[in-house]
Amino acid sequence: MLGRVIVTGGSGFIGGRIAKHLKDAGAYVVIIDQNPPKVQTDEFIRGNVEDEGTWRQVPEIGFDAILHLAARTSVLKSITDPVDAFYSNVAGTFQVLEYARRREVPSVVSASSNAVVGNHTESAITETLGLNPLTPYGATKAAGEMLASGYHHSYDIATANIRLTNVYGPTMWNKDSIIPRLLRYAVGEGEFRIYGEGNQYRDYVYIDDVVSAFIKLAEAQETGTVSFGSGESFSVIEIVNKVSMVVGEKLEPPHIPPQKGEMAGVKISLEKADRLGLKATTSITEGLERTWQDFLQSRRSK
Ligand SMILES: NC(=O)c1ccc[n+]([C@@H]2O[C@H](COP(=O)([O-])OP(=O)(O)OC[C@H]3O[C@@H](n4cnc5c(N)ncnc54)[C@H](O)[C@@H]3O)[C@@H](O)[C@H]2O)c1
Repeated sequence: MLGRVIVTGGSGFIGGRIAKHLKDAGAYVVIIDQNPPKVQTDEFIRGNVEDEGTWRQVPEIGFDAILHLAARTSVLKSITDPVDAFYSNVAGTFQVLEYARRREVPSVVSASSNAVVGNHTESAITETLGLNPLTPYGATKAAGEMLASGYHHSYDIATANIRLTNVYGPTMWNKDSIIPRLLRYAVGEGEFRIYGEGNQYRDYVYIDDVVSAFIKLAEAQETGTVSFGSGESFSVIEIVNKVSMVVGEKLEPPHIPPQKGEMAGVKISLEKADRLGLKATTSITEGLERTWQDFLQSRRSK
């Protein structure tokens, strides 16, 4: 059980859910984020993770783990502003690891992405594929994984990187990813267009399964990289149909020409995740239903 934990990016979608879960389970939780959190924890430090000064404000008590989620997450924005992505994601991860080294925090678990791998010819992405990121975002995540490895071997800190697939679930309403965009489209808010035929496939994982995986890696003080998702990939068309079932209306978004450089598909191997006892247990139908109900609830309470 984690007693004292720092969650970077704790004001965001995944970090907020992790912070809430830990707090509800009785942990002492410090959030570090540049934006104010939506969940109440023991301490909130407003600042950038890449600034050493932010870390000087952390209470001088021993921590069991840092769960590191703060990052610039937009792949497209990383192409137009790679400098910003570098400072937050690479210099930021470096400061996280530096804090862990100086303050002897035994475990750091960082959010990574399959974007570190880029194009490949395997049927499924495994952790042993070479790193070949296609964007600055992917490169910053690959750099974070490498820093984590170096800090583990040099300073004996357990450093795990969890490569997440497409995470979805409650509270992600303003995000730009496919599921919230489709739900907004279903209620007549915003556009949704399908690039090309819509055969691009991705792995979708429900947020609470991701929360459990993060906590498990930290509790077990794991080191190394693991891909985590549901293990099931769906095409854009299949997701449109599944969301249609959940919202009770056939959604028929228009098609537009394919987007250049888009990865044809993401399918991951869960072999290593299984070995580590990480398991996504929420089916896509169940996860979408919960997400939709939370979406409706949040609109009612506006
Ligand atoms: N959501 C996904 O599907 C997905 C997939 C793969 C990887 N990830 C990774 O998981 C992590 C969390 O993603 P999310 O979806 O919750 O994103 P999010 O944008 O909702 O949350 C990120 C949080 O980090 C904060 N932040 C950004 N830069 C910062 C900085 N320099 N200093 C301090 N705070 C900063 C933001 O204010 C925000 O609260 C990210 O590292 C992301 O790259 C997410």
